[in-house]
Amino acid sequence: MCGISGRIGTNVLLFLICDLQKLEYRGYDSAGLGYFENDNIKTFKVKGRVSGLNKVKKKCASIGIAHTRWATHGKPSKANAHPHSSENGNWTIVHNGIIENAKQLKQEFGDEHFKSQTDTEVVAHLLEKYGDGVEAIKAAMERLKGSYAIVALNKAYPDTLFVMKNKSPLYIYQSEGQVTVTSDIITLDTGFYYDLEDGEYGFVTAEKMQIFNQKGKKIKKQLLPIKKDNIILPQKPFKHHMLKEIYDTPTCLQYLIDYYKNHPTGVDFSKYEHIKLVGCGTAYHTALMGVKFFEGIAGVESHAYIASEVYKPILKPNTLCIFISQSGETADTMEVMINAKKQGAETLLITNRMTSTMAKKADIVLPMMAGEEVAVASTKAYTCGVSVLYLLALQAAGKMNFTNLKRLQSEIAKLLSLSPQPRLARCKNVFFIGRGMDDVSAMEGCLKLKEITYINSIAFAAGELKHGTLALIDKHSLVFALNTCAERAGKMQAAIEEVRSRGGKVVELTTLPATNKDAVKFEHIDDNLDGLLIMVYLQLLAYYAAARKGYNPDKPRNLAKSVTVI
Ligand code: G6P
Repeated sequence: MCGISGRIGTNVLLFLICDLQKLEYRGYDSAGLGYFENDNIKTFKVKGRVSGLNKVKKKCASIGIAHTRWATHGKPSKANAHPHSSENGNWTIVHNGIIENAKQLKQEFGDEHFKSQTDTEVVAHLLEKYGDGVEAIKAAMERLKGSYAIVALNKAYPDTLFVMKNKSPLYIYQSEGQVTVTSDIITLDTGFYYDLEDGEYGFVTAEKMQIFNQKGKKIKKQLLPIKKDNIILPQKPFKHHMLKEIYDTPTCLQYLIDYYKNHPTGVDFSKYEHIKLVGCGTAYHTALMGVKFFEGIAGVESHAYIASEVYKPILKPNTLCIFISQSGETADTMEVMINAKKQGAETLLITNRMTSTMAKKADIVLPMMAGEEVAVASTKAYTCGVSVLYLLALQAAGKMNFTNLKRLQSEIAKLLSLSPQPRLARCKNVFFIGRGMDDVSAMEGCLKLKEITYINSIAFAAGELKHGTLALIDKHSLVFALNTCAERAGKMQAAIEEVRSRGGKVVELTTLPATNKDAVKFEHIDDNLDGLLIMVYLQLLAYYAAARKGYNPDKPRNLAKSVTVI
């Protein structure tokens, strides 16, 4: 979702555009820049790609702000793209988050005073109302409700970036005359940075920085080292990030195994009788796999929840709440974490971003070790997240070992060494079915296909076929049947026959020896991990289907990598 950069230095427009390119992975629909030129603030905005900003990249500027926008209030358009300015042009700002009382504030000013449909423009107007400088920021913040990370230019201070932060991350880097203010540490290289807390605001110039807390008191911020994970991944030339990330999987799993061999998780499972797992999208599917592991391997009662569906979590004593979030910034998941903590729950986060906002809040943070994931559709982070949960369940059962995970790693490497390019047969409807863990894999495989090919597909438990969905099956249907559980193989076979006898085409994906001769066969590793091997195949299936249709698999329409609004 939205991304922010602010810079002080030389030729900042060039650097700001580079920063926005680094933020592109988050998903966006428009972009813009604001900068000082001869003591006037200029803006340049485009609907569409950051590359559209290149027209101004050669302009000389020593201070500027930049933004990638993912539409929430108002459609994607040049007018709604950030930056937004106050009516008299004294303030120009970029904003991440949502101003919850924007509608009320807008009414105060009168709709005719606004050029965009955004909530952000309201903040610019508020700042103008309260004057210039840091006092105006303080007064405006007292009126704002919601989440915001804002960087602002004020005409009266042509060498200064103003900042304000609540519930959306904002970081400041200042060294030798160079300043970067960013919503994502990914834009920072090495050195030290300041991390703003909720309610903090202030300003930064090339030489000076002053931050105030919610009460308006000057505070001294602590410098934190910029930590990059040491995950070095092969830089082979791939057409898309998604394909590269699928091929990264064996290396990431190796990093994961090495890490957890040497770093105890710090979780004392003897304290817990119940486990609740929470996530969104792919992370929710990861949570569902966690339930299978904790119940199947360790016999601990567990439940998985879609974060946005947890209104009032009921937490019994002795409950461990596990949150799964690749980015560590997903607003829905974070809200549940905050509420769980308020109830005194112990929280564990499994994340790929150890410096994320959720990582700062959780009691225990465990890394996915997946390295940077840029494509919106999550691939290697799913495999790694599920693998961490598998290890946790082994630990909970007192059976910690890495043998089968190592086998999974080498089977995925073997599979990828064959460069498979699965083809999706022409069809009207696609279905994914499975039982037990295969049902969860079916859901994740289906999500990959939907996300990047826009093909309408559904996933469900194979046993449910005859309870409704069978009515949809005809000769135009394509059914992927995941079949890795020997105990349930007979029942899966029955479901496959039910489809075939109605003219539907079945592609069976299996690790079982005695199955249909036209099935796609995979090596059997461990009942718990077979689904992860098949998942790599399903990820490739979705990737090649999208690429053959001419879509960009990395940037599916309407979707964002990191969903920071509720
Ligand atoms: C978005 C992404 C998904 C991701 C989900 C949760 O919807 O498009 O790929 O699974 O957010 O993200 P998280 O960072 O919390 O794992």
